Amino acid sequence: MMKRPGTAAAAAILLAISLVLSGCTASRLNPAGDVDPRAVLEDFKGRGMVGHLEALQRIADDNGGNRVAGTKGYEESGRYVEEQLRAAGYTPVRQTFTFRGDGKNRKQVETFNILAETGGSADHTVVVGGHLDSVEDGPGINDNGSGVAAILETAKWMKEKGITPVNRVVFAFWGAEENDLDGSRHYVNELSKAGKEQTAAYLNVDMAASPNGVRSFHDGDGSDFGDAGPKGSDGIEAVFERYFKENSLPAETTPFVDGDSDYDPFLRAGIPGGGLFTGEVKKKTQAQVQAYGGTAGKVLDSCYHKACDTTSNINADLLKDMSGAMAYATASYALAPRG
Ligand code: PHE
Ligand code: ZN
Ligand code: ZN
Repeated sequence: MMKRPGTAAAAAILLAISLVLSGCTASRLNPAGDVDPRAVLEDFKGRGMVGHLEALQRIADDNGGNRVAGTKGYEESGRYVEEQLRAAGYTPVRQTFTFRGDGKNRKQVETFNILAETGGSADHTVVVGGHLDSVEDGPGINDNGSGVAAILETAKWMKEKGITPVNRVVFAFWGAEENDLDGSRHYVNELSKAGKEQTAAYLNVDMAASPNGVRSFHDGDGSDFGDAGPKGSDGIEAVFERYFKENSLPAETTPFVDGDSDYDPFLRAGIPGGGLFTGEVKKKTQAQVQAYGGTAGKVLDSCYHKACDTTSNINADLLKDMSGAMAYATASYALAPRG
């Protein structure tokens, strides 16, 4: 006759099972520590982010000066991104949605996100995103052609380096961020409960080349601004911090501001988030001039949401540093060991 396990042993077995199960559903990742941040920055010093900005500028010039979601300028921006992704060996897909237009045009407008995924475990998905649309008043080259360029070059760099993700990466180009974060909100709303639980991290890049800019990344643990992201956001902050530190590049944290960019729908859904930002309407402080150079008392991007947000409105050196940061964080999460 088999001996029945005692209640203490049974409780221990149940605890072990529930720990294993919760470990699976929580889908949190500790980023790999063996990606070399200095080698990544070296790689990005030679990459062609500015070429993407020139292409997006031409598209705006040919289409009334902007790339607003739902317009021909946006459609052509989408085609450009899709061509780039296909040439690199990805299979981009469009996720269509409708949003309510602003101003006089308050009817439903159809537009899309572009998504391109790698192989790897979908149980541990890393979403790397930024918005592809511009405001109506300008071509949106720093806001957010710069982020688009950083993501495209990260995607291409992964293929060229033969980095094979253990954890699936989804590269995302959002539509209608400038309306009300509609594209990223649609993506998060379309995720099932399991899909949300499987999303281990969201990495955002919105403005990565501000002409009088700073290097900043979001305060995931809330230690600087008191507003932490969901558990795991601290790890994302730490990855960016490591990249800048190892490269001896001064950098600072920036708070999550409700409704400010595409991280918002992810954080609201309990998904850990973080990302990069080089600044918009704040004025550069004396301390920031000491760290980064530039002009004190002048706004970080004087062409923010204006017609002058063109290819003349970018800091190409900053764009290299920030694109390398995105690539480093992406690879660190793509290769993160589980458990
Ligand atoms: N989301 C703002 C815009 O597109 C800019 C922004 C980016 C603000 C990142 C905060 C953080 O206009
Ligand atoms: Zn904007
Ligand atoms: Zn933006």
